[in-house]
Amino acid sequence: MVSMKNPYIPTKAIITHIRNETPDTKTFRIRILDQNEFSFTPGQFIQLSVFGFGEAPFSIAGSTNEKELEITVRRIGTVTGALFRKNVGDIVGVRGPFGKGWPIGLMLRRNILIIAGGLGLAPLRSLVHYIILNREEFGKVYLLYGARTPADLLYKDEFNTWSRYIDLHLTVDKGDNYWKGRVGLVTILLDDVSVDTEDTIALQCGPPIMMHFVSKKLKSLGFPDENIYLSLERLMKCGMGFCGRCTVSGRYVCIEGPVFCYADIKSFIEAIPEAGVEHA
Ligand SMILES: Cc1cc2nc3c(=O)[nH]c(=O)nc-3n(C[C@H](O)[C@H](O)[C@H](O)COP(=O)(O)OP(=O)(O)OC[C@H]3O[C@@H](n4cnc5c(N)ncnc54)[C@H](O)[C@@H]3O)c2cc1C
Ligand code: FES
Repeated sequence: MVSMKNPYIPTKAIITHIRNETPDTKTFRIRILDQNEFSFTPGQFIQLSVFGFGEAPFSIAGSTNEKELEITVRRIGTVTGALFRKNVGDIVGVRGPFGKGWPIGLMLRRNILIIAGGLGLAPLRSLVHYIILNREEFGKVYLLYGARTPADLLYKDEFNTWSRYIDLHLTVDKGDNYWKGRVGLVTILLDDVSVDTEDTIALQCGPPIMMHFVSKKLKSLGFPDENIYLSLERLMKCGMGFCGRCTVSGRYVCIEGPVFCYADIKSFIEAIPEAGVEHA
């Protein structure tokens, strides 16, 4: 945990590595200065400051057993644009970790079905790394991942390693001349796996519209509400339950989430198509 006297003041951190993931997405490796480790639970997030530009929340995408932390960022506006202009050796600010992560205690010795869309794989990558490190603690593990095109798939270099430990299924909305895999929305991958819905925990993160349709399909397959978990990436400001900017169904995403049980936010997820697509 980053030590904080005033929780609004970020701790300084140095960018130690930058990797291009897709044309608009990069993974930044960051080391908190004057601190030997950074502890977090998969699914938690940090607030990252680019001094002079502002602060934004990002899921922690790296491994729990590493001293540095990793975030995968898509460039969409002021803070992310400024971060993309940073280089290795530059200083940023970090607050956190914040929020509740994936329900690991509940997942032990159960089968796990992970469904990710686009950038939604970022908070699930730290979980995939955790599962691989503690593989004997879990039953069968499936990862169903969909992206817009083959070029938009994150963490491609890791797929071979992941496939040695978990059952990885990929799809893209639109293929190219080289793509030989599935084409279609991530929900089609649910037709390729057969799981015991009573003994499987389903975890998902992606655009709201994806989570709406995946939840609907999981329900039609027989998943109980309490076996489905989702990570919500709502607009946030303070990250600490003070400003009220992030509420969903009367709940504060920053402190009660970002991971929620479907049973607790069902009315919000069901209403998504009417509310419109918010963030992909
Ligand atoms: C818990 C959590 C985890 C997140 N994890 C990641 C992550 O791992 N990687 C990543 O790239 N992004 C993540 N995000 C989203 C990220 O915080 C935003 O993309 C970022 O705040 C944009 O900042 P900006 O200053 O670049 O954009 P701005 O200049 O503030 O905004 C540009 C445009 O994007 C819209 N926008 C900004 N943030 C959001 C949002 N969260 N939802 C809907 N619309 C938005 C704005 O309304 C505006 O139209 C996460 C958000 C939350 C709440
Ligand atoms: S971001 Fe301020 S209350 Fe959640």
